[in-house]
Amino acid sequence: MRDSIKVILFCFLLVIPFLTLACSQIKDYPTDLEQLSEDERLVIRFSHVVGEDTPKGMAARKFAELIKERSNGRIEIQVFSNGTLYKDVEELDALLRGDIQLIAPAISKLTDLVPELSVYDLPYAFNSLEEVHEFTESEAGNRLKDLLKMHNLIALSLWDSGFKQISNDIRPIEHYQDLKGIRMRIMQSDILAQQYYIVDAFPRKIDFNTVFQSLKKGDIEGQENTLTNITSKNFYSLQKYLTISNHGYLGYFLLFNLDFWESLSDEDRELITETLHEVQEWQWQLAEDLNDRRLQEIEECQCIQIYYLSEEEKKEWEEHFTPVYHYYTQHYGDYYIQNLPKYKYVK
Ligand code: SIN
Repeated sequence: MRDSIKVILFCFLLVIPFLTLACSQIKDYPTDLEQLSEDERLVIRFSHVVGEDTPKGMAARKFAELIKERSNGRIEIQVFSNGTLYKDVEELDALLRGDIQLIAPAISKLTDLVPELSVYDLPYAFNSLEEVHEFTESEAGNRLKDLLKMHNLIALSLWDSGFKQISNDIRPIEHYQDLKGIRMRIMQSDILAQQYYIVDAFPRKIDFNTVFQSLKKGDIEGQENTLTNITSKNFYSLQKYLTISNHGYLGYFLLFNLDFWESLSDEDRELITETLHEVQEWQWQLAEDLNDRRLQEIEECQCIQIYYLSEEEKKEWEEHFTPVYHYYTQHYGDYYIQNLPKYKYVK
C-alpha cells in the first residue's frame, strides 16, 4: 500500500511540471490562422482613393504588413486602394456608418464635417513639412483632432502627400493673375474655393477618381495636387503647363471609427498606436523622397512646361491671398491661425 502511494506521488510530481511546460509551449507556437475562429481574428477594412505607388498607398501596405507580422497574423488590415471600395465622400460616410474601420482622407475632405480643419488649406499656411508636423502635434493641432471625436472619429496619425503644385492647359501660370478665368479642380473645401475666387478662377469640387476624365472631357482646364498624385494618375499627360508653387499642404489623417477603436483591447490599441507612430516617421521621409523623384522625372521627360515660383513671387502670392485668411477668421475665429508656426514665433 505504502509503495503504491509512493508511485502515485512520484507520477504526480513528474507529470505536473511536464504539463505546465507543455502548456506554456503551446502558447508560444506560431498560430495556425486556419484554426482561429472569426471571433478571435480581427479584420480592419482600410479604404483609400490613391494608387499603390504613392506615399499613402505604400504606407498603407507597410502598416498592414507590420501589423500582420506583429500580431502573428491575428490582426488583418485589408487595404482597398484607388477608390475601388469607396470614392472620396463615400469612404467617410462608410466609416461613420461603421461599414469600414479605417480611412486616410485628405484633411481638406474633412472640412465639411469640421470646417476649422481648413486652416490646413490656407495658401502658404506652412513653410515646410516640419511646420505641418509641429502644428499637428501642438495644443492647437490636438484641439482640432478632438473636434473629430464629436463625430465618432479618432485621428491617430498624420501622413503627408506633400505640397501642391498647379497644372493647366490654358497658359503658363507665372503670376497669380494668370489663373483668371481658368476652371480649376479642387478638393471638397470651401477655403480652397475661396483661394481661387480671389484670383478670379472658377473652382470645381470634383472627386479625385474623376479628375482625369474631367480634364480629358474639358470640364476643367487645370488642377492642383502633389507631384506624386499628378504623376500616378497621369494628369500631367493632359496638361501643358506646370507651376511649382508649393502653395498649399496636402496630407491625411488616419481615421478610425471611434466606437470601433474603443471596442479593441488595450493590447491591440497599443500595438496599432505604436506601429502607426513608426510608420508615420517612415512615411514622412518617403513622401519627401517620392515628390523629389517625381519632379526629377517630369523635368527629364520634358513633356510639360515647368515654371518655378521664386521665393519673392511666393511672398507676393501669399500676400495676395490674405483675404482668404480673413474669410477663415470671420467664420471660425483666429485661434488656429494664430497658432500656425509661421505666426507663433513672430513678435
Ligand atoms: C489623395 O491624395 O487622397 C487625393 C487627393 C485629391 O483628392 O486630390
